[in-house]
Amino acid sequence: MKILGIESSCDETAAAVVEDGKKVLSNIVSSQIDEHKLYGGVVPEIASRRHLENIDYVVNNSLIEAEVSLNEIDAVAVTYAPGLIGALLVGINYAKGLCLSSKKPLIPVHHIAGHIAANYITHTDLKPPYLCLVISGGHSHIVMVEEYTKYRVIGRTRDDAAGECFDKVARTIGFDYPGGKYIDSAAKSGNADAFSLPHPNVTGSKYDFSFSGLKTAVINLVHNASQKGVDLNRNDIAASFQKTMCDILVSKTMLAIKDLNVNTLAIAGGVSANSGIRAAFDGECEKNGIKLFLPQLKYCGDNAAMIACQGYYDFLAGRTASLDLNGIATLSLDEISE
Ligand code: KG4
Ligand code: ZN
Repeated sequence: MKILGIESSCDETAAAVVEDGKKVLSNIVSSQIDEHKLYGGVVPEIASRRHLENIDYVVNNSLIEAEVSLNEIDAVAVTYAPGLIGALLVGINYAKGLCLSSKKPLIPVHHIAGHIAANYITHTDLKPPYLCLVISGGHSHIVMVEEYTKYRVIGRTRDDAAGECFDKVARTIGFDYPGGKYIDSAAKSGNADAFSLPHPNVTGSKYDFSFSGLKTAVINLVHNASQKGVDLNRNDIAASFQKTMCDILVSKTMLAIKDLNVNTLAIAGGVSANSGIRAAFDGECEKNGIKLFLPQLKYCGDNAAMIACQGYYDFLAGRTASLDLNGIATLSLDEISE
């Protein structure tokens, strides 16, 4: 079964053709980042307009690269939640138009479910149940993936997402938006023990995260030093911050693994591209006999192959939509698991 996936929830206009949820025939991503970085973050109005301009070209190219015609596509999967509402609506309306004209089934896909599914593309042996740490620019979740379409959120961030924290720390030390990847490379030449940063505690749930205290600690460190005219080494800040982030993510995730008695862990989302985080989980999982699955780097960030892949499992579960499908800006994975 060949599914055309469409993703436009944030600042990437993406389309892909995936066969049977595994074989990626094409994966086109058009990034708007060069325009948004002028403003230090994604500007929703600009994102929607660029999606409108790009989507037809991106979808057509995904068909050309896959060497299939629209007739040979069996269904269209589109991200419908969560995300920037104006941005989501561009992809949804384009998908609806395609489905109306070609009489194909329309499959609404949850963006975070898509990130999780990126692991199925890389690892055909990964099957639910397993625990998944989702770390992206907008979300940080520890999720029990009970079935391909059934999730239980075990822990979540109370404030900033992990990627948001990376990006704000990066901005504080002078990197462009989105700065996660710059922190990653700067950390390689820094001393991770140069600065001691806090591991914020969260009361109520031992699996919930809080990253705003960590972010504020870095901002205060940099501002205090600059008021005293002291120049801090930014590689050392990057390395110390990344190590603290790794410690927080690893400790909460390993605690959930132990308490829930699972032996399989997957990691997903843009931040799962981070080399320090990948290495930290590699070591910890090896030590504890946990099977670890990481997506290929090209499927960590936003893409449509992951949407087409999850769309396949949603289709098998009978989750298709009619042409009154609407976008939803905020929607938890728990709410689609009833
Ligand atoms: O999943 P994603 O592409 O978009 C959302 O759904 O939010 O994640 C984007 C986030 C950004 O915050 C970006 O800085 C971060 O992923 N990111 C990284 C790395 N590559 C991307 N963070 C840390 N290290 C990286 N190598
Ligand atoms: Zn994403």
